[in-house]
Amino acid sequence: MSDLFQLQNDPDYLIANQYQDSGNLSSRILIHQKFSTGAQPWYDFVLELAKIKPGMKVLEIGSGSSALWRGSVNRQPDSAFFVLSDLSPGMALDGKRNLRDDRRFGFVAMNSMAASLKSGSFDLVIANHMLYHVPSVSQVLSEVTRLMKPNAVFMAATNGPEHMADLDQLQEKFSQKLVGKHGMSSRFNLVNGEKQLREFFDNIELHIYPSDLWVTDAALLTNYSYSTPVVKENLGDKGKAEMTAFYKRRIDHYGGIIIRKETGVFIARFS
Ligand SMILES: C[S@@+](CC[C@H](N)C(=O)[O-])C[C@H]1O[C@@H](n2cnc3c(N)ncnc32)[C@H](O)[C@@H]1O
Repeated sequence: MSDLFQLQNDPDYLIANQYQDSGNLSSRILIHQKFSTGAQPWYDFVLELAKIKPGMKVLEIGSGSSALWRGSVNRQPDSAFFVLSDLSPGMALDGKRNLRDDRRFGFVAMNSMAASLKSGSFDLVIANHMLYHVPSVSQVLSEVTRLMKPNAVFMAATNGPEHMADLDQLQEKFSQKLVGKHGMSSRFNLVNGEKQLREFFDNIELHIYPSDLWVTDAALLTNYSYSTPVVKENLGDKGKAEMTAFYKRRIDHYGGIIIRKETGVFIARFS
């Protein structure tokens, strides 16, 4: 199993499997969009903190399917400019398709470990749930700070160590093969993230997103579980129907499945 954890930091594996296109990510985003208990959608929470103003140049690294921006293009200033970048060409293509007609957005397939962009170009850099995937967080932070203007802001969203542990426990109940196989965000999380950011930034704030999940659709929850390498590799597709029946029994009995979240955003500045 430790191999599976190493794979989540392996760019070749991520491009060829987990993030070949936006399929796996979309299954996960859907659960958060449909079943959050929070008053504010996650991406609105992030963008409210971002405070994007006219004329700003914004870079997102690990932008996936452009989910952060899709629902908010009408709220973004006409004169702002956005570069969305992702390691996976398939993911970058899906991201581009989703915002094809908006000239303010440019797209690039780029490994944030070695960013092919000009130094001092951006007012805001966003890394939304991606720093735990990179081989070296400090290498990416060094690239990020190189790309930032002197007064620019860096935002890094991530999870806490207990994020969705309720789902991990449920999956363990479903299959012995999944016992003790968790910890996706461990390389950069809400607990160890600040120390890593302090190596590059003087001023760091943490904003916690107050929301959990109350899931009432068993098939969508199975899709979520199967979007993760831990479940897919250990159970194989044959387990899908059985897992859906397992989740459905709980939903029928309790009315839903509670999954507690730990998610937040660091905001980092040079001073
Ligand atoms: C969990 S997804 C988050 C996507 C998007 N930020 C969102 O919140 O919807 C992580 C993304 O980071 C990308 N990624 C992983 N390693 C990367 C790297 N070294 N450089 C750039 N992108 C990377 C993946 O391809 C994937 O699209």
